[in-house]
Amino acid sequence: MNKVTLVDDEKSVRDSARQWLELSGFEVLSFEDASKALTTITKNYEGIVLSDVKMPGLDGLQFQKKIAEVDPDLPVVLFTGHGDIAMAVEAIRGGAYDFVEKPFDPERIVETIKRALEKRQLVIENRLLKQALVDSEGLDSRLVGSSVPMRSLKKEMTHIAPTIANVLILGETGTGKEVVARSIHKLSHRNKKNYLALNCAAIPVNMAESELFGHESGAFTGAQGKRIGKLEAANGGTLFLDELSSMPIDVQGKLLRALEHKEITRLGSNTLRPVEFRLLSAMNESPQKAIKEGRLREDLYFRLNTVELTVPPLRKRKDDIPLLFSFFLEQAADTYGTSADSATPQSLAIMMSHDWPGNVRELKSMTERYVLSALPPQERIPQILSSSIAGECASSISLKDQVNLFERHLIKESLARHGGNVKNVIDDLCIPRRTLNEKMSKYDLKRQ
Ligand SMILES: Nc1ncnc2c1ncn2[C@@H]1O[C@H](COP(=O)(O)OP(=O)(O)OP(=O)(O)O)[C@@H](O)[C@H]1O
Ligand SMILES: [Mg+2]
Repeated sequence: MNKVTLVDDEKSVRDSARQWLELSGFEVLSFEDASKALTTITKNYEGIVLSDVKMPGLDGLQFQKKIAEVDPDLPVVLFTGHGDIAMAVEAIRGGAYDFVEKPFDPERIVETIKRALEKRQLVIENRLLKQALVDSEGLDSRLVGSSVPMRSLKKEMTHIAPTIANVLILGETGTGKEVVARSIHKLSHRNKKNYLALNCAAIPVNMAESELFGHESGAFTGAQGKRIGKLEAANGGTLFLDELSSMPIDVQGKLLRALEHKEITRLGSNTLRPVEFRLLSAMNESPQKAIKEGRLREDLYFRLNTVELTVPPLRKRKDDIPLLFSFFLEQAADTYGTSADSATPQSLAIMMSHDWPGNVRELKSMTERYVLSALPPQERIPQILSSSIAGECASSISLKDQVNLFERHLIKESLARHGGNVKNVIDDLCIPRRTLNEKMSKYDLKRQ
C-alpha cells in the first residue's frame, strides 16, 4: 500500500512535495483542487490523503469531512501554513489523522505518511478478514459438507483464497475439484473479475495452444479470424485448468514461460502482450506418476503447486452423505418439478455402506434418478444402487460394518436433533445410558 492523494492549490508546494514523496517510493496523485481529488476517494481506497488546509473552494476542513463520509477510517494528513494551526486542531478533533507544518521537513513528512499508510493497511486487512468470514458462510452453501475432512479443507480454502498463490487441487474424479476452484475464486479479491475454466482433456491436442494463447487470422490452416486465448481472457482474474496432465507437453512448456514472464504472444503474432492472472489447476491422478510417465513437466508442476489441496473421496467422509443427498434432492426436485421424498432410514443405510467410486458426482446422479423414479421411495435406492453394489461384491462392506455405520448415523442424528441432550437421546432410541455411552465412545461421537 503506497498511494497518496496530494492536494495543494500552490503549484510550487505541490510539485516539491510530490517529488519528495515519489523519491521515497509513494505513488502520488496530485490535485490543485480538493473537489477534483474527491473523485479518487472510494471506500477501501488503498492509500491516504495529504491536503493543504487553506484553499479556495473546498478547504482542508470541509475536504476532510467529505472524505469521512466516504470512509471514516481514511487517514487525512493536513499541511498547515503559519496561522492555521487552530483550524488543524479542529480538523484533528473532527477525525483528521495528523498535521505537518509548512515549510515541510521532508523526513518528517515521509515518516508521518508511512505511519498513516501502516494504519490504513491494518484497517483494510481487518475489513478483508471480516469479509472473508461472511463469504466463508457462503462457502457452505456452495461446497456442501461438514465432515471433519471437509471442514479442514474449507478452512484451508478461506485462508489461501485471498492470496495470489497458485493452487493445485488434487482428488479423485467427481470429488468436487471444480467446485473448490470456483469457490476459491469467489472468496478471492478477484471475485468480480473473470473466472475462466478450461478442461485440457476436452480440447483436441492440436488446438490446445491456440485455446490458451489465441491466434491471429491465418496463423495456421483453418485459423479464420483472430481469437483471444484463455490466458489473455483471464487477465486480471482467475484461470482454472482442469486435467492438467492432458495438456500436450510442448504447450506446458509455453505455459510455464508465460507464467514466468507474465506475457504471451498469440499464434502468428510477434507482439508480446502482458497478462496477469491467478492460476488454479486440478488433476485426478498423482502428479508424481504423471511426471514419471512424461505427461507433466516437473518445472511446471513446481510452479503450479504453491499450495496443494486434496479433496477427499466420498468414502472417506461418509458423514457428508445425508447432507449431500438432501442438497441434491432439493435441487433435483426443483429442476424436474417432482416431489422431494426424503430417504427412508434403510435407504440411508444403503447409501452409507456404498463405496461411491464416482464420488459426489455419482451421488448427485443417483439422486436425480431417485426423484425421477416411479417406484415407491423405499424401493428406489436399493434398486438404483443394486447393480453397482452387486458389481463390487467381495470388496463391498460386510454386513457387520453396514450395521455399525447405520447405528452410528442414527445416534449422531439423534444427538444433533436433541442438541446433545443425552437424556432425550436415550428416550428417543430406547437404549440404556450405559449402552449409549459405550456406543458414543466406540463411534467417536461427541455430545456436540
Ligand atoms: N461438496 C459439494 N457440494 C455440492 N456439490 C458438489 C460437491 N462436490 C461435488 N459437487 C457436484 O458434483 C459434481 C462433480 O463435481 P466436480 O465437477 O467439481 O468434480 P471434479 O473433482 O472436478 O471431477 P473430475 O475429476 O471428473 O473433473 C458437480 O456437479 C458438482 O457440482
Ligand atoms: Mg473437474
